[in-house]
Amino acid sequence: MKQTAVTFRAAKGDRKLAMITAYDYSIARLMDDAADAILVGDSLGMVMMGLDDTLSVGMDDMIHHCAAVARAAQKALVVCDMPFMSYQISPQQACGNAGRLIREGRAQAVKLEGGADFAPHVEAIVRASIPVMGHIGLTPQSLHSLGGYKVQGKSAEAAQKMLDDARALEKAGAFAIVLECVPTPLAARITREIGIPTIGIGAGPDCDGQVLVWQDMLGITERLSPKFVKRFAPVGDTMRAAFAAYADEVRAGTFPGPEHCFSMDEELLNRLY
Ligand code: KIV
Repeated sequence: MKQTAVTFRAAKGDRKLAMITAYDYSIARLMDDAADAILVGDSLGMVMMGLDDTLSVGMDDMIHHCAAVARAAQKALVVCDMPFMSYQISPQQACGNAGRLIREGRAQAVKLEGGADFAPHVEAIVRASIPVMGHIGLTPQSLHSLGGYKVQGKSAEAAQKMLDDARALEKAGAFAIVLECVPTPLAARITREIGIPTIGIGAGPDCDGQVLVWQDMLGITERLSPKFVKRFAPVGDTMRAAFAAYADEVRAGTFPGPEHCFSMDEELLNRLY
């Protein structure tokens, strides 16, 4: 059965939700059976484009990758990130660009970063019948104002603000909220207090679900892995070894072998001038 924002939201309290990022057709196909949702994250700026942060990712990048993922996802819900400055300016701008991600990118829902300040933006998108996933805690698009990638909500004031933000997003109509780099007890409290699923990344085991970047969980990324990443298989090492084996065989002349080649009638060949 194809997951929707409605089935995703209804899973709260029933079963844990697994979300994984993907940015292309082949990888999305591999995870479609396992994942409840596939997130086309703006992390693609870093893991697909080699950028230092997510700030230079644009709408066209998101649409291009989301359309490829959407073609692959037979079962999983497809959520697409709204990139930096595609929604911050006004609820109208947010609504127009969310519409492009649905219409051109074929996403089923959008995700945007920010709390109560962006409740009007979430409301406007939801009013246009587009499901919205919130994202609070460490919000990478606010890298410069946060002063770096750090665990959020550590003071009483910051923790209270995060809880208020979660409530505001739920009230605005969000169907789920990503909690990124949040202390475990605070994520647990937010999860208890709101009626929509929380999806954690570096937010402990009490969230209603989890999300990881696929390159991180399979050891493809070379950058330093954050503490919250678990490597589920050393696929990066396997790939590196396979590339090296291929190059060695090419250089040794052992690839391609007869089984990889196409034959031709000798006589035809002899007729060539
Ligand atoms: O861009 C992304 O991949 C994300 C997840 C890490 C939550 O927003």
